[in-house]
Amino acid sequence: MSSKYHTPILLSESLTFLGIDKGKKYVDATLGGGGHALAIAKLGASVLGIDTDHEAVNFVKNEMQNIKVELQNKIVLAKGNFRDVKEIAEANEFSKVDGVLFDLGVSSNQLDKAERGFSFMKDGPLDMRMNSDLEVMASDLVHGLSKKELVTLFRRFGEERYANIIAGSIVKNRQKSLLKTTKQLADLIMATIGRRQGDIHPATLVFQALRIAINDELNSIELGLNGALEIIKSKGKIVVITFHSLEDKIVKQKFSLFADSGIGIVLTKKPIIPKQAEINNNPRSRSAKLRVFEKN
Ligand SMILES: C[S@@+](CC[C@H](N)C(=O)[O-])C[C@H]1O[C@@H](n2cnc3c(N)ncnc32)[C@H](O)[C@@H]1O
Repeated sequence: MSSKYHTPILLSESLTFLGIDKGKKYVDATLGGGGHALAIAKLGASVLGIDTDHEAVNFVKNEMQNIKVELQNKIVLAKGNFRDVKEIAEANEFSKVDGVLFDLGVSSNQLDKAERGFSFMKDGPLDMRMNSDLEVMASDLVHGLSKKELVTLFRRFGEERYANIIAGSIVKNRQKSLLKTTKQLADLIMATIGRRQGDIHPATLVFQALRIAINDELNSIELGLNGALEIIKSKGKIVVITFHSLEDKIVKQKFSLFADSGIGIVLTKKPIIPKQAEINNNPRSRSAKLRVFEKN
């Protein structure tokens, strides 16, 4: 729950939109390192923190031993996928809440641990499962899909314009080099397409595509937003922080759909983005976009 592990992104903006106050109830659907959840509890509200990664839930459970009992009593933890947010909230007596927060993607904790396989900056197994109970990991896709399937995956979930040449290179090299680790895959992509313009690593979009597929991330967002709408009270808010265009597109469309059905209004005509000072302080925030929906 400390900044050592995850600096909460767009924190004050999230808290302001959620309208945190004493006695109110919230769901933090993406607990991570507990940064947002702790901040909500410190303002006097109760918060149910959900994460699909049992390491995240255990981490926050341990960290909670170091905070005051009054604060501990305001935080409830649950392991689960936010696609089931309604059921998880009901099971934990959070069935009517003042707001739900989604801070999508992976946490610093997950990225920093090489063995989780999320980062091309560290050498680890090609895993990328947020929930370690899932049976398929990234190496299964890299080794098991045909070239055509890899191309479709990289285009659909990575919007990767070099999908064809990267998939070809993977299929050609996967027997020879085995391609077991994040670094092997990142190096192969670098050798195949070279450096990109701008500051993104050549493997960024392929890693994003594999991670989205392994964790079925885009479907989870759709289902999670539907569930959140059902549990928020009148004037309750759904606050979502996204990190790439595929996520942001779903949130934008879903909120428009909710608004068009007369259920509420979108409070952010344009997404809120981090101020330059936050980006300087925490470069991981640079692609963040925050959108907010309020129920009637
Ligand atoms: C960016 S981090 C959240 C960081 C957190 N807000 C903080 O301040 O420490 C995202 C977290 O959401 C979790 N997550 C991603 N998709 C999820 C899903 N469908 N259901 C539940 N948790 C999910 C990840 O495991 C990760 O721990």
